[in-house]
Amino acid sequence: MTRQDSLVYLTRNDAYFDSHGFGIWAVERKEDRALIGFAGLRKFERPRHPLGSCIEAAWRFAREAWGQGYATEAARAAFADGFNRCGLATITSWAPSVNLRSQGVMRRIGMRRRPDRDFEAPALPVGHHLRPHVVFTAERATWPEQLNE
Ligand SMILES: CC(C)(COP(=O)(O)OP(=O)(O)OC[C@H]1O[C@@H](n2cnc3c(N)ncnc32)[C@H](O)[C@@H]1OP(=O)(O)O)[C@@H](O)C(=O)NCCC(=O)NCCS
Repeated sequence: MTRQDSLVYLTRNDAYFDSHGFGIWAVERKEDRALIGFAGLRKFERPRHPLGSCIEAAWRFAREAWGQGYATEAARAAFADGFNRCGLATITSWAPSVNLRSQGVMRRIGMRRRPDRDFEAPALPVGHHLRPHVVFTAERATWPEQLNE
């Protein structure tokens, strides 16, 4: 994204918080306040998609910010907020099966692998390497207490 594209995206996310009560945060590095990525929750509503409707957890970080635990830290904060302040019951996340880094975040924060929900991305042609997706879920009822702080 260009700087302008990022600004538009973040501004739109602010408005989303106003209308939904939760959303996608901009993530700043504490030491220098650099914008390094985003993480948070949003409604996924596609009746004809294999996952249907759910609350989706999403994250994306600048390449130079990978490998330092920032996505895990941000995701934990987003889940605690979603379960505690917003009272969400279930949060779902998914990734192409080849995207091991994103699955690493899901595993580190304690999401449950859900092979029964895995799907093939309908928008991609059969055989495309990004088509097979794996799914993880987290339930408020069983979310580890120490992560809710
Ligand atoms: C998905 C994505 C956010 C994961 O980033 P990441 O840097 O791998 O994840 P984290 O920030 O949690 O960092 C974990 C790594 O930091 C290390 N780490 C260092 N300090 C850490 C700490 N305090 N806590 C946790 N991990 C720490 C971990 O050991 C791990 O190292 P590894 O890369 O050797 O496995 C990143 O790859 C990305 O932005 N990808 C492009 C967008 C994308 O794919 N989004 C998801 C679409 S489904």
